[in-house]
Parts: sequence; C-alpha cells; structure tokens
Amino acid sequence: MATAAKPEGRKGLFATKDTDALVRDTEEKGQSLQRVVGLLDLTALGLGAIIGTGIFVVIGEAIGDSGPAIILSFVLAGVTCAFSALAFAELSSSIPVSGSAYTYSYATLGELAAWIIGWDLILEYAVSVAAVAVGWGQYFNDLADSLFGFKLPDSIANPPGEGGSFNLPAVFIVLLVTAVLCVGIRESARFNTIMVFIKLAVLAFFVAVGVTAFHSGNLHPFAPKGLNGAVTAASVIFFAYIGFDAISTSGEETKRPARDLPIAIIGSLAIATTLYIVVSVVAVGALPFDKLKGSPAPLAAVMKDGAGLDWAANIISFGALVAITSVVLTILYGQTRIMFAMCRDGLMPRSFANVNERTHTPVRITATFGFLIAAVAAFVPLKEIVKLVNIGTLFAFIVVNIGVIILRRTKPDLERGFRVPFVPVFPIIGTILCLYLMKYLSAATWLRFAGWLVVGLVIYFTYGIRHSRLRRGEVVNPEAELPDAH
Ligand code: ALA
Repeated sequence: MATAAKPEGRKGLFATKDTDALVRDTEEKGQSLQRVVGLLDLTALGLGAIIGTGIFVVIGEAIGDSGPAIILSFVLAGVTCAFSALAFAELSSSIPVSGSAYTYSYATLGELAAWIIGWDLILEYAVSVAAVAVGWGQYFNDLADSLFGFKLPDSIANPPGEGGSFNLPAVFIVLLVTAVLCVGIRESARFNTIMVFIKLAVLAFFVAVGVTAFHSGNLHPFAPKGLNGAVTAASVIFFAYIGFDAISTSGEETKRPARDLPIAIIGSLAIATTLYIVVSVVAVGALPFDKLKGSPAPLAAVMKDGAGLDWAANIISFGALVAITSVVLTILYGQTRIMFAMCRDGLMPRSFANVNERTHTPVRITATFGFLIAAVAAFVPLKEIVKLVNIGTLFAFIVVNIGVIILRRTKPDLERGFRVPFVPVFPIIGTILCLYLMKYLSAATWLRFAGWLVVGLVIYFTYGIRHSRLRRGEVVNPEAELPDAH
C-alpha cells in the first residue's frame, strides 16, 4: 500500500497516534499479519501464557512469606488482575493492533509514554520468558532424576551464583520454542492448544490426588507472618497471573477481535484464578508449608512427600514441563508482536518488522529475541527476576487502566466491543490495587526497575525520537478502509 508523506509530523513528546491510523498501519505491505486466530485459540493462548512457572515453581518462593495464607495471596493477586483484565478487554476490542499496552498508550498518553511502556513490556515478556525457562530447567532435572536417576551436572544446569555457570535446559527450551514460532502462527497455536489441555488435565489430577492427603492441621498457623506476609506473597505470586494480557498482542491476527478478545481475556483469567485457588488449598492442605518452602518443584513434592506417590510426582513434573513450555511459547509470541508494532512505528529499526513471505511470521524479530532471551536465561537466577517482571507488569497494568479513562474522554464514540463497567471507578480501583502490590516489592526491585527505565529513555532520545514515523508525518494509506473488527 502506498505511503503518503505529510509535510508536518506530530512532534510533541505527548503527541498521540490516532486510533484509526494505528489500525490502518496494520495493512502495510510486507508488515501485515494474517487474521487466522479464533476464540478457542485465543483462550488457549491466554491459558498457555498464564499457567506455568507461577503455580508450579514460584508458589514455593512465595509461601515462605505467607504460609497457608498463600490462598489469600492468590485471591488478592487475582482480584488485582481482574480489574486490569477488564481494561485490557476494552482497549483490545477498540484498538485491535499487535502492540497491546504499548499501542494503547500511543493512542492515549502519547509517544514518550508509549515508548516507556513498550520498553517496560520487555520486562514483562522477554525477561519473564527467561525466568520461566529457568523454572523449566528445575522441573526437567527433577523428572530426569526421578525417572532415570540422572541429573545434569550443576555446572550446566544452574546460573552463576546458584552453584553453576550456565543453564543449559533453559537455553534449550527457549531455542526450541523460537523455532516453532518462526514456522507459523497456525502451527504454534495448535501446538499451544494441545499443551493447554495437557496442563489443565495434570492440574486436575493434582487436585484429585492431593485432596486424599488433605489434613486440616496443615493449615495452622494460617498466616504465620500476618497480613503483611500474605500481601508480600501476593506481590510475588502475582507472577502466576501474568499472561492474560498477552492475548491482546494477537489483536492483528484475530479473526473477530472486538468480540473474541474480551471473552478470551476475561475467560482465561477466570479459569486460571479458580484453578489456582483450588490448587493452593490442596497444596497447603496436603503438605506442611515449610516443606513446600523453597522447593524447586513444590507441586511434585506434594505428591511425593504429601501423598507418598512417586509416580504421581512424575506426572506433575511432566505436566510442569508442558505447562512451562506453553508459557515460553505464548509470552515469547507476545514479545515479538509488541516489538513488531514498535518497529513498524519507527521507534525501533523498521526493517526488523518484516514479515516472512512464506511463514507469515516476523522471523527476524522472533529469532533475535529467541537468542537474546536464551542468553539471559543461561545466566539469571529465578527469584530476583520474578520480582522485576512483576513490577514492570504492574506498571503496564496501571497505564492500561488510566488509558481506559483517557480514551473514553478523547474518543467517546469509538466503537468498543467491550466496555468496562463503572468507569472511572473500576479503572481507579485497578490502579490502586496495582500500586498496593508494587509497594510490597523490595527497594532493590524498585531500583532495578528505575535503572531499566533510564536505559530505555536513553535509547528513545538517541534513536526513537529521530525515527518515529508519527514525528516524520508518515501515514500509511490514509484512504484505506479499516479492517472489520467485528
Ligand atoms: N504466569 C506465567 C507463569 O506463571 C508467567 O509462568
């Protein structure tokens, strides 16, 4: 399609990109994705991204603060996400474009904020994939040990600082998934849907077996570190919910975005929340929490030490491997789509956003991120990375909540497939809940987060500001009809 250059661009740091222009850009030749994703695939994408390292691994980290009150921590983190999910549902159904929160910020808060969020989302997506891959390695070793009495030597199964020098399983899983994503979106979606069914079945199995070992005595003391401990755990276990928003990154590949995106976002979060609460009740009922604390494979430990069934522990470990693989797949997918939108807007190199003619996927972005993430996954410890991912994600959720309020004012007539009820009250509650959880993250996490944003600002002021297509006045085919979102 023709690119018409306007003489004047919009130069302010707070200049917003029109929602119509955002959607039109998706039609650009060579940088346009296929609309092939349906409602089942989308819901599976959400569940694929949500259920993984959080429930299978991070629960063991968080429980040290909460004790059995981890159940309440799951509820608090789930409620926080529910408000933000409504905001994502509204914005994704009105601006069905790849960039998720990045794109919504471009439309509502302007370019600088959009860049900050896009950069911040690298924490939620790319960095979390690295963290998740580390969790995969832990279950891999647990399963190999249990089945074959074989463990990878610590030196190649752990990052520096945790008894090793290189995390080979984490690198392996990231590169494997990168290859699948390059092959095609349909193939990736199919692979993901199969994995989602397996992980749901394995968690159902966990509940069915675990409940037989339930002792109410294990629930006492319920909150050994009081309310503070439970909220601190919520700020960590929040990680388990990350991913429902990744559905919105597929806005450009969805057949009926206005209808399907809200259903999939809210539906997948509701399913995951219910499951998490049930699984956590069973876990803390079946095994005293101090035995879950710090375990590299806590749900397998419940089967082994709580129910006394080694074979059941193997099934859980297998399920964890499948679950975490689907998280790597879907979150890495989300990252490539957000970066795709940023490149297309000129804030990152545009040639990066080319779609491969044969596979219809952005192969260059996918491969580059795959290698970068694999490199990070080789060397990072899980615990600290999880908190950094959480603070970045909570920040993005806040911006999306605020975006709903702003877009209702600036574009009251925009067609919305879904509307958040009680605006501005609900988005304000969503914002406050995110801030509340952020407050419980440590000063070190806040400092790392600030450092990350400073690096992002340096990149924007040295590169993005000079290449932004909005600032240059480039608009793609202003006369083109908008794709039908309904
Ligand atoms: N929610 C995802 C997980 O727990 C990131 O693995």
